[in-house]
Amino acid sequence: MMKLGFFLYGTGHHIASWRDPGVMPNANQSLKHYINITQTAERGLFDFVFNADSNSTFGPDDPDIWKRTTVSMRLEPLTLLGALAAVTSRIGLISTATTTYLDPFHVARMFATLDQLSEGRVGWNVVTSSAASEALNFSHAAHVPHDQRYERAAEFIQVAQGLWDSWEDDAHVMDKAKGLFFEPAKLHMLEHKGKHFSVRGPLMVPRSPQGQPVIVQAGQSEAGLELAARTAEVLFTVSQNLEASKKFYADLKARTARCGRSPDSIKVMPGVLTVVGSSRDEAKEKFEQLQALIHPELGVAMLSDIVGLDLSKYPLDGPMPTEVENTTAIRSFRDSIVDMAKRDKLTLRQTYQRVLPSMGHVVFKGTPSQIADQMEDWYKSNACDGFNIMTPVLPRSLNEFVDLVIPELQRRGIFRKEYTGKTLRENMGLPIPQNPYFSTARTAAE
Ligand SMILES: Cc1cc2nc3c(=O)[nH]c(=O)nc-3n(C[C@H](O)[C@H](O)[C@H](O)COP(=O)(O)O)c2cc1C
Repeated sequence: MMKLGFFLYGTGHHIASWRDPGVMPNANQSLKHYINITQTAERGLFDFVFNADSNSTFGPDDPDIWKRTTVSMRLEPLTLLGALAAVTSRIGLISTATTTYLDPFHVARMFATLDQLSEGRVGWNVVTSSAASEALNFSHAAHVPHDQRYERAAEFIQVAQGLWDSWEDDAHVMDKAKGLFFEPAKLHMLEHKGKHFSVRGPLMVPRSPQGQPVIVQAGQSEAGLELAARTAEVLFTVSQNLEASKKFYADLKARTARCGRSPDSIKVMPGVLTVVGSSRDEAKEKFEQLQALIHPELGVAMLSDIVGLDLSKYPLDGPMPTEVENTTAIRSFRDSIVDMAKRDKLTLRQTYQRVLPSMGHVVFKGTPSQIADQMEDWYKSNACDGFNIMTPVLPRSLNEFVDLVIPELQRRGIFRKEYTGKTLRENMGLPIPQNPYFSTARTAAE
């Protein structure tokens, strides 16, 4: 069955969503709103909701640019997911936490706690921090270099997973008559001493019903993909087209096998922005209405940041400049934008209107059946194991997806009609990681 995640973002994924007349502009801080959309995603039988995070604003680090977006309003994600765990029972809850500026004991403890409270429904999106300005909030003068971030990330995951195995599953005997709360032989101190961390343990949280939180990643660099092949169980990706996705999927599964893991032990999930209409034209029209809400100053500033060139002196309706310099901007993203602008002869305005709403992710627009066709095509041609669904405005476009697209997928027999598992691992078909100290292996199938 296809896996489906819902990419939570208060107002919706379109950059101008907060200006839509039907959207609550302060949705990013409303618990009632998050409860509503998460319960809708659970009604749609999604595997999980995913809450991305950064400890500073994503995108250009300039309040003069943020003033036109909602990026400056973002709640701490684990606190939010804790509240959502209390009002849901089957849907998985995934959040980002950075390995670059946080400490593994603290992160392991937060995720283990949430995994206990939700009875095994949690995943951790391990990132090395996209926003360089996070450094400035953690007493660093500048962003840690890329290779060092990934070296630290690998050790960080190892420490967190070690801490999650502090206790064997039957360690807590809680024998009132003997006055013995736990069996000391079943407690395992981590005693980790590595290059970046020194952590004794134990964690004061036992393993949850799914053993450990699911490890998710979204790095796209060579270092990121190697770490994913060794340790990730879910990989979020950015992809524009089917052929590139098929190649990527085959490469990632082969890398995973080379690391001695089953290719099925990692689920590849590209993001897709979905725009549902009663006809293709209606979907297009809905999208155009939102596009018109992107303030030109915002569009130009964001695109300048992405391609690494100040575009503010170019006319909005003149050709998109394609002679951009080699800068620190994300190279593959910049190149694909420049190629697209050349190929389709786009103006500056048309370019930012194409790029910003989905930030490089593919867009499926059309009737529910046209959207389901594309999803089925990607899924059946081994381009992915499922999708991370992004909807332009919330709650409206999630309701449309759940009410109209999910039944299409179900009719085609490629998406569940009910939850079969209780934990995130059971629903995603991921095995329970064995506690190395515990003799009786359990699997998701049991
Ligand atoms: C779908 C998706 C979600 C992501 N979520 C986050 C996030 O929440 N926080 C973050 O700092 N980076 C996020 N990233 C970025 C990466 O995970 C990664 O840290 C970044 O791309 C730098 O690593 P790389 O050089 O290996 O790509 C996300 C990327 C994708 C594709």
